[in-house]
Amino acid sequence: MRVIDENTITDAALEQMSSTPNQRLKEIMASLVRHLHGFAREVDLTPDEWLQAIKFLTAVGQKCTEHRQEFILLSDTLGLSALVNALHDKRGTESATKSSLLGPFYRHDAPMMKLGDSIISKSKGTEIAFYGQVVDTNGKGIPNALVQIWEPDETGNYDLQLHDPSEMDLRGCFHCDSEGRYYFRGLCPTGYMIPMDGPVGDMIRAQKRHGYRPAHIHFVIGAPGYRELVTALYINGDPHLESDTVFGVSQSLVVTVNKKDDKSPLPHLASLRYDFKLAATKDQTSGRVGADPSQIIGKAAH
Ligand code: BEZ
Ligand code: FE
Repeated sequence: MRVIDENTITDAALEQMSSTPNQRLKEIMASLVRHLHGFAREVDLTPDEWLQAIKFLTAVGQKCTEHRQEFILLSDTLGLSALVNALHDKRGTESATKSSLLGPFYRHDAPMMKLGDSIISKSKGTEIAFYGQVVDTNGKGIPNALVQIWEPDETGNYDLQLHDPSEMDLRGCFHCDSEGRYYFRGLCPTGYMIPMDGPVGDMIRAQKRHGYRPAHIHFVIGAPGYRELVTALYINGDPHLESDTVFGVSQSLVVTVNKKDDKSPLPHLASLRYDFKLAATKDQTSGRVGADPSQIIGKAAH
């Protein structure tokens, strides 16, 4: 009989899992087990420490509802979402606008709006215009591209975090015009702290991290034949651009709000302009690291 000790256990587990018919699942699970075992050996993990980790993961699961996804927050704060995003970008065959985190506050059912509409229904912050063009890698506008947007209110909370999370605010979907142009009104973005009232917040405090995200607005942009772009625009001058708690900022996504802009389709407002570049693809695999919480949990959970 095989002697199971702190070294032979890894091969024993890998051997049992080698019957997995799905080759990709087999590869992923084998690598996960090798790294998990290596990690336990490296830190000489004690039973108490492993139990504490299991309690932590249990609390992460228990915090999840159809409006809250604590596991996505954990993936984001560990830098794993940003890593998976970077791997996804590298797989693209054309160089497009950089991606950023989807985060835990995306909703798939944001209202369809007309170009020029405001995504603000209740919030009272400063209204500004957002505009630009969705182009291909040759700079040609992509007609009718679908732009989905969401942002927090002036207190730094998303609608999903408010008293009645089923009421939507500061979200919208727009079809670009025949030259790929988009424009809409929204709030001047505000920085905020990620949700700190759960186990991920406990982890952030234990690590003496500040927990802030710099001011930003989220975009998911898609069109048939193009790679879906999941990204965000970050506001120049925010004090947390270099230390985002979830590692979402790239220099090319940092933008400046113009107080006056005669080229804006809404010239009476301060504005933020950005042109998004989409890469062509035949492969429509998703670039979303994160998701609508209700799509993961299902409507029945509370
Ligand atoms: C967000 O930008 O909405 C977000 C991303 C990761 C964690 C928390 C919030
Ligand atoms: Fe956000």
